Amino acid sequence: MRKNKQVLVGITGGIAAYKSPDLVRRLMDRGADVRVVMTESACEFITPLTLQAVSGHPVHQHLLDAEAESGMGHIELARWAEMIVIAPSTANFIAKMATGKADDLLTTLILASKAEIVVAPAMNRQMWQNPTTQENLETLIERGVRIIGPAEGGQACGEIGLGRMTEPDEIAQELLGDGIPKSLTGVRVVLTAGPTWEAIDPVRGITNRSSGKMGFALAEAASDFGAEIILISGPVSLETPQGVERINVVSSQDMFTAVHEHITNADIFIGVAAVSDYRPVMISEQKIKKVEDSMELKLVRNPDILRSVAELEDPPFTVGFAAETECIDENARIKLTNKRIDMIVANNVAGEEGAFDNDCNQITVHTENQSIPIERKSKYQLSVELLEIIVSLWEHNNP
Ligand code: CTP
Repeated sequence: MRKNKQVLVGITGGIAAYKSPDLVRRLMDRGADVRVVMTESACEFITPLTLQAVSGHPVHQHLLDAEAESGMGHIELARWAEMIVIAPSTANFIAKMATGKADDLLTTLILASKAEIVVAPAMNRQMWQNPTTQENLETLIERGVRIIGPAEGGQACGEIGLGRMTEPDEIAQELLGDGIPKSLTGVRVVLTAGPTWEAIDPVRGITNRSSGKMGFALAEAASDFGAEIILISGPVSLETPQGVERINVVSSQDMFTAVHEHITNADIFIGVAAVSDYRPVMISEQKIKKVEDSMELKLVRNPDILRSVAELEDPPFTVGFAAETECIDENARIKLTNKRIDMIVANNVAGEEGAFDNDCNQITVHTENQSIPIERKSKYQLSVELLEIIVSLWEHNNP
């Protein structure tokens, strides 16, 4: 078991503070224990209650707060932290750090802690380019502070340039991706994720429930393992993980074609997508009008993408996901045998604790000879453990 990294997230007063709860969540998804400290001006942009709800712990705000000091006092917090991440960090806060000020809780903690300090700046592009800011940054870098970003793009003030806070998933990957062994370096992984959409007419279709979160978490984790990833995704509203090549598809047939265009050199194929098993025989070019009291829709079976990959002459290591509502492990093992794949992940999609839309899940990994349950955790952490099992089997097959 990896020990959870103890990360203190410091939030200062910039508009990018709206991204900080997402950063906290993503650090926690990656197994970090997170505590939050907010400056007074950060509280003008976002409420401590939001951060308390996301982190699951009270937010620290004041240096001289008797109640907070009777809990985890500021010196204790400074010792607790293994890493302090200031995100967003304003130009003013960077200046305070460079001059060693300790006039509020966050600046005091930074001075009182031996933790690694990371700064994710966010400010207007002129403020970023200003020589004073640049000199302050140089001072911080000389003292061993790590700077992440800023990124380039549109800014809240309407200008375009360098100064946006780096996206939370990129910061989380940069901070916590190190703990992952790069055991899939050079290994090519093709993944399917999300649902498919089988059109009936221009406004209606048949689809499956799938948020795409598991497939995207797996792609993110595989990227941390060093793999080259092609993520073939049905329609979902998720950001593409760092370092992942994404191909968007709509129908099951599109997904089939995209998979077979990219599978030739793949070492591992993981089918996470909830593929529609059937599609309408005919797609109406115009919107179908309601005329009759009932109507019949004739459907035809779609090809099984996973099975078609496993049946290739020289197939990659092939992993499927079995979405089940009952007899989960039995049904999953039947699919393992019928589809002739190397591994299947049994996924309970029934009830509120089920996989749909949740950030957490529990799974059981089945191979011909083994059944390995993985307890409930974030989809990213599940992915890391699943990939560790895949790596050990894949290395065994490819010594
Ligand atoms: N799958 C696929 N192509 C299909 C149907 C499913 O590649 N046309 C893959 C899924 O991506 C998943 C696995 O097969 O990895 C199992 O999908 P699931 O929907 O659980 O099973 P089905 O084979 O569709 O069987 P059923 O719907 O009868 O449970």
